[in-house]
Amino acid sequence: MIIQFSRAGFLNHPYALLQFALGNKSTLHEVMLMRAGKILLGDSFDRSYAKAVLKEISDGDFIPLNQLPGVSLPGNKPTYLFGKFLYFIVRCARPGVMVETGVAHGVSSWTILNAMHKNGKGKLYSIDLPNQDLKSYNPTNIRQSSGWAVPDELRHRWDLRLGPSQELLPQLIKELKEIDVFFHDSDHSYENMTFEFEAVYDSLKTGGLILSDDVHKNDAFSDLVTAKKINGLQFYTKGGAAVK
Ligand SMILES: C[S@@+](CC[C@H](N)C(=O)[O-])C[C@H]1O[C@@H](n2cnc3c(N)ncnc32)[C@H](O)[C@@H]1O
Repeated sequence: MIIQFSRAGFLNHPYALLQFALGNKSTLHEVMLMRAGKILLGDSFDRSYAKAVLKEISDGDFIPLNQLPGVSLPGNKPTYLFGKFLYFIVRCARPGVMVETGVAHGVSSWTILNAMHKNGKGKLYSIDLPNQDLKSYNPTNIRQSSGWAVPDELRHRWDLRLGPSQELLPQLIKELKEIDVFFHDSDHSYENMTFEFEAVYDSLKTGGLILSDDVHKNDAFSDLVTAKKINGLQFYTKGGAAVK
């Protein structure tokens, strides 16, 4: 089953909804993140620890992203709901092994690696096929390569591999054997999303998480949740998460 995190689903938080209507999205985002953490992590979700993580997000307590003057980078940074969720869930689930597809400039990798840095544990394996996106997500448009924006201090926890996920993901999964969290953000076609979810599913630990951006684009994520009889949620902005 997929629980929809629409704004109307939070009517029991009138203050958060009022703030949202007044243009302050962060209170409602925090309420959503706390509910998502509880759904995905169950009894291991620690509310007071999670509140401290929310404070890191609101304080912007991160190692700064590499930036070029005058270039604004697209990606899942913790100023947007799904970027906040990525940071929050990695801080709360504390994965040892996480796999990501779709890197572009490295904004989501940076978000995840910041959380692992704070956790003091974890390794992120990322796969990207450079030059696939024609516009803002293509780093070569600003004469850079995949993941260029990730600062050096965070790279010792990172293994970045370049090539199509159709080839590299099965190889990587064979190497790793078990993973804690998978995050899809590469080619959002139904075929590729389904391929990636199936490629990782058997190696995902029980209680492990499948995260995906842009689940609204097709039925791949909802078909996965239905086929595997697992629980999931979808944020109103577009991303989703499910627990094995
Ligand atoms: C939306 S961007 C990723 C954004 C990134 N996750 C973030 O939030 O900062 C999608 C990336 O997936 C890559 N990509 C597209 N098809 C791919 C494939 N078949 N295998 C691996 N990467 C792919 C693109 O080149 C692009 O860099």
